Amino acid sequence: MTVKIFDRPDTQAFLKELSGLNSDSGSPRVKALIHRIVSDLFRTIDEMNVTPDEYWTAVAWLNDIGAAGQAGLISPGLGFDHFIDERLDAIDDALGIDNPTPRTIEGPLYVAGAPESVSFARLDDGTDADGHTLIMHGTVHGSDGKPLPGAKVEVWHCDTRGFYSHFDPTGKQAPFNMRRSIIADENGRYKFQSILPSGYGVPPGSPTEALLSALGRHGQRPAHIHFFVSADDHRKLTTQINIEGDPLINDDFAYATREGLVPSVIECTDEASIHGNNLNGPFAEIAFDIHLTPLVDGIDNQVNEQRRRAVA
Ligand code: DHB
Ligand code: FE
Repeated sequence: MTVKIFDRPDTQAFLKELSGLNSDSGSPRVKALIHRIVSDLFRTIDEMNVTPDEYWTAVAWLNDIGAAGQAGLISPGLGFDHFIDERLDAIDDALGIDNPTPRTIEGPLYVAGAPESVSFARLDDGTDADGHTLIMHGTVHGSDGKPLPGAKVEVWHCDTRGFYSHFDPTGKQAPFNMRRSIIADENGRYKFQSILPSGYGVPPGSPTEALLSALGRHGQRPAHIHFFVSADDHRKLTTQINIEGDPLINDDFAYATREGLVPSVIECTDEASIHGNNLNGPFAEIAFDIHLTPLVDGIDNQVNEQRRRAVA
């Protein structure tokens, strides 16, 4: 039996009532958003004949996602984070702002308060025995194209098991392992030593994985390194690089891969480079320059502090 009640006047009146549109108090913006979202969901239930069983399965899943602290994990999986980036790009296009270093999603696993050092940092504590040494470096440029001494490069990535410190289910990693803030030197240069991260996968058996499986999708990301880059008089850049050669670069469940964010990885085996970096053996090297963009009317029109609150 198919019925359609969405367009009935009493249904439309009910939507206005439940969204608070008949009341003078509350937030007009929240009312407008809830009216639109609940209307869209009512219409979905009506048009797709959603059964009570299906509806309550969805409610139980929302409870599971919340209890697991994984709303921020499924968000990129459903493309919201990338869609918001595409909107920021479109806004920049309309303003005539070019982003020589593309933005891409933050992901849910940043932690504030990492140790800070000038010009160089070692990110890993040496305990990940499977790690292949990585040396990454580059120059941070300002909107005038000149190097930006004092720019702050915040960097974080996972270990060879795909686990981030502070979110490691084995509890093995020390706080802030593979997380640092590096202040660019007088030539705008940053450099760090770490290990090449592995790809990441959403927690097995999680409600995030359950929904992706129902969509016939996986929850894997290619190996990647996250960055926040900030400096006076510039907008904060949120981005990531992928590790070249990872088979999932064009099959990222979080849709973060972008052209311009897959720098070459050079395997260095010569003694001069090894000794020049105070290492004992071959290492991977990535050179990656970063370009920041100007403030808009004196402010950063993109900075988003609320993101912090969505972390599990
Ligand atoms: C997720 C994890 C990440 O490390 C990342 O960079 C993006 C998304 C996630 O679990 O959703
Ligand atoms: Fe990540």
